[in-house]
Amino acid sequence: MRKMKAAVIGLGSWGECHLEAFRSLPQVEIAAICDNREDRLHEMGEKYGVVRRYTNYEQLMEQTDIDLVNVATFEKGHLRPTLLALQSGKHVLVEKPITTDVTEAHEMYRVAQQCGKQVIPGHLLRFDPRYAELKSAIQNGRLGQIASLFFKRSRQQSLFATYSRTHTVYELTVHDLDLAVWYTGSRVKSVRAFAQHLSGSAAPESLWANLTFENGMFAVLHSNWLTPDKAGVEIFDSVEVSGSEGIAHFETSNAGLQLWNQEGSLSKEFFIHHQRNGHTYGALRDQLDYIANCVLSGAGFEYVSFADAVHGIEIADAIVKSAESGQDIFL
Ligand SMILES: NC(=O)c1ccc[n+]([C@@H]2O[C@H](COP(=O)([O-])OP(=O)(O)OC[C@H]3O[C@@H](n4cnc5c(N)ncnc54)[C@H](O)[C@@H]3O)[C@@H](O)[C@H]2O)c1
Repeated sequence: MRKMKAAVIGLGSWGECHLEAFRSLPQVEIAAICDNREDRLHEMGEKYGVVRRYTNYEQLMEQTDIDLVNVATFEKGHLRPTLLALQSGKHVLVEKPITTDVTEAHEMYRVAQQCGKQVIPGHLLRFDPRYAELKSAIQNGRLGQIASLFFKRSRQQSLFATYSRTHTVYELTVHDLDLAVWYTGSRVKSVRAFAQHLSGSAAPESLWANLTFENGMFAVLHSNWLTPDKAGVEIFDSVEVSGSEGIAHFETSNAGLQLWNQEGSLSKEFFIHHQRNGHTYGALRDQLDYIANCVLSGAGFEYVSFADAVHGIEIADAIVKSAESGQDIFL
């Protein structure tokens, strides 16, 4: 069986999840890895048995046998490795946010088309069965005519120390922007947003945005870094879609195992990426499985949309501008 040869650039916490998920797929070989932290590079190389290791991704791009490069570096550093990979004949899976700059998003799209290669956004929630089932319900008309959508994304306070390096709209809300565009099947017409900078950080701890879509639908999005760590809730997200024939909703924190003991409580997330008895489960693995099958068969990719991801960055940009100016922003 021919295997898809994958390379991972950026071996932080999420890059390692990619290594775990890739390793679990029989049709994938992890051909090369890259991180500019040499100790981390070799630690990951030893752990996952990868021989070709680079501290400079330009050298990795010279490898002609690699089918797909996964860019999982810092949020603001995705453009250059993405363009180089496309220009050296590789498909690219670029982590969310694909970028934090609208011009860069358009550039990625243009270069991918020019090179005849796929650039795939890391919007893995399309592969989470809960979000995917909701999309099917909307598509099949089971909720009737959709009127409005609500998305909430809440993360533990301690994570803000690391991820305030990027504006909250790009770090958290961008997931929901992709879902909102996917669910409504429409572009956004106008945005009004509100941000709370509780500690004076450039990234807000709490962000609200109202979106009006060209097809008349309406969405409210809320992202925050305010879940108390002691609550033990890894992911505190929710969605609600209301239509003329019904409502669909879920909330993640009470949908799985609740473990309460003398140390406190733990509400663990199982849907995104999870390992048990040497097996890997979750949306990340399903996303990589889908991509590998598309690369190997040369077909598909319809389930993901870089154009939607680019529009997501356009909306994110408008959200930042609206929160800063206190004005409605028209796209
Ligand atoms: N889809 C999801 O649910 C999800 C979850 C977590 C993170 N992410 C995204 O994944 C990306 C990485 O996040 P993370 O949490 O792993 O960050 P991280 O800080 O843990 O890791 C980033 C890694 O990239 C390396 N790096 C940075 N610049 C580099 C360069 N020029 N060359 C080589 N290596 C370089 C760093 O040394 C580090 O090891 C971000 O875009 C983040 O938003 C997505």
